[in-house]
Amino acid sequence: MQPFKQVVTSDFDAVNQLIIDELRSDVGLVEQIGHYLIDAGGKRLRPLLVLLVAQACSYQGKGHINLAVIIEFIHSATLLHDDVVDTSEMRRGRFTANAQWGNPPSVLVGDFLYSRAFQMLVGLGSMEIMGILADTTNIISEGEVQQLINAKDPSVTEQAYLEVIRGKTAQLFEGAAFAAAVLANANLELQNAMKDFGYHIGMAFQLVDDALDYRGDAQKLGKNVGDDLSEGKATLPLIHAMNNGSNADAEFVRQAICNGSADQLDEIIRIINTTGGIDYTLTTAHNYANKAKASLSQLPDSPYKQALEQLTDFSVNRNH
Ligand code: IPE
Ligand code: IPE
Ligand code: MG
Ligand code: MG
Ligand code: MG
Repeated sequence: MQPFKQVVTSDFDAVNQLIIDELRSDVGLVEQIGHYLIDAGGKRLRPLLVLLVAQACSYQGKGHINLAVIIEFIHSATLLHDDVVDTSEMRRGRFTANAQWGNPPSVLVGDFLYSRAFQMLVGLGSMEIMGILADTTNIISEGEVQQLINAKDPSVTEQAYLEVIRGKTAQLFEGAAFAAAVLANANLELQNAMKDFGYHIGMAFQLVDDALDYRGDAQKLGKNVGDDLSEGKATLPLIHAMNNGSNADAEFVRQAICNGSADQLDEIIRIINTTGGIDYTLTTAHNYANKAKASLSQLPDSPYKQALEQLTDFSVNRNH
């Protein structure tokens, strides 16, 4: 077991139990698809983040279990929708729900998970946390839509790319860490430090995801590599390759992005490698991870603070 999970083992078990309880629905297909995705596991990094931040801020109650499930449900909803828009076929080592049941049930069960998360949020009873997560889900959607607008456009800049990943991914980590600190009644300075921590670890996390889409092992990842290229996404490995490759190589990458096809994946990987696109992406991720760790300095020393450091290291050094 990951060491950062060990310090919250009993909380983590409670989260998994509550996930099962809260997936209940009288509509069979809702439960079937919900379980299909959620029983496949996933890393559960965001709920772990919630548990660890709450504990590191000396939270005494039980609401962090609910908050962790709320965050995992929001994450799961975005995955169901994301696999439809990315036309992805593998997720968590299984066929995606859209590959298995088609797009309509995937979209609708995604809506179920979103709304179940908000029902649970009402149960938690904090207007402030509700505000944080309402903003969070709103910004995630904007990030995904902006990415859709940018698709097949090779002129997307590094700045524009970072803006997209801030919305589509970092925002959920940020909202999760911020909400957990608010739940724990941490002082304003600490709340802001945790918010900052979430933003930076989230950026690092998506940068690594984008590197793994070119150099990961599909078996370990549980999802196919090359999905970003087939959607014509100008992620950082490609942006760096276009900025630093020979004219011919840069043009080759531009064409592949315009075509939105992974037919030339091997040649694109060769170009990424000659230009150091993966190293550049991973170095950028490490810079964000270091900033994330710096935000933790506001926390008093505890095993939870240490676990948050380990969680940050895992987010950048992972291969799945
Ligand atoms: C996948 O997130 C979506 C991204 C933001 C890259 P994870 O890699 O955390 O997915 P699971 O939950 O572990 O499957
Ligand atoms: C995920 O980005 C962002 C959200 C789920 C909102 P990706 O599209 O890169 O995630 P994967 O690679 O499919 O997990
Ligand atoms: Mg995707
Ligand atoms: Mg996507
Ligand atoms: Mg990805």
